[in-house]
Amino acid sequence: MEKCARFMIVAIDGPAGAGKSTVAKAIAAQFGFQHIDSGAMYRAVALAARDQGAGWKDADGLARVAARIRIEFEGARILLEGLDVTQEIRTPEIAQGASIVASVPGVRDALTGQQRALARRGDVVMDGRDIGTVVFPHAELKLYLDAATDERAERRYHDLESQGRHPSLPEVRQELELRDQRDKTRATAPLRPAPDAVILDTTKLPVEEVIQRVAALIRERQRPEVRP
Ligand code: DC
Repeated sequence: MEKCARFMIVAIDGPAGAGKSTVAKAIAAQFGFQHIDSGAMYRAVALAARDQGAGWKDADGLARVAARIRIEFEGARILLEGLDVTQEIRTPEIAQGASIVASVPGVRDALTGQQRALARRGDVVMDGRDIGTVVFPHAELKLYLDAATDERAERRYHDLESQGRHPSLPEVRQELELRDQRDKTRATAPLRPAPDAVILDTTKLPVEEVIQRVAALIRERQRPEVRP
């Protein structure tokens, strides 16, 4: 009998600061899956658009940037046209830019195609906003992580502090709310849980517990080896 060729896909969606990338990284390390941070791809498009002078309101120009762009994941590093942009895409300016370019259908089409191609190479855990709803509606496991806005703002504030930035907490909260609002209300692929997603509120859950719960859900869904 032929072995099933399809790889396992774990889709993690949710708003900024819900813990998606921490959980995705831990799951990738534990199960040997590739982690694809789809938000980093939207951030890379925003960075490339800024550097190439394409305005964030120029939908056609942004779609062209997204179609041409070469984004690679090398371990925890993100390469744009072969250059390491891992740190450069983490600024508040690029976060807002990513949320703006992400509302352009042509940008989403281009990145959705690249995300699907990346998942043909092996098991993946991909986090983002539309992974379980649009990119992989047939993923073996779909998760929607959420947390109270105050908690998410605090987490983002500490992330930025650890990068040597010193924004004020109200400023961080305001930027996060603006981005969430844009991501949830856009016409194309808005942020929302897939109908069959497992919803986890991480406000009061220690991250280790969230990871344990997700790991248990993956084990339940892993196919038994098909024997010849
Ligand atoms: O996950 P992140 O904060 O790095 O994402 C940055 C922005 O990219 C986010 O505000 C919305 C957009 N995004 C998206 O629209 N769809 C995805 N699958 C991932 C991110």
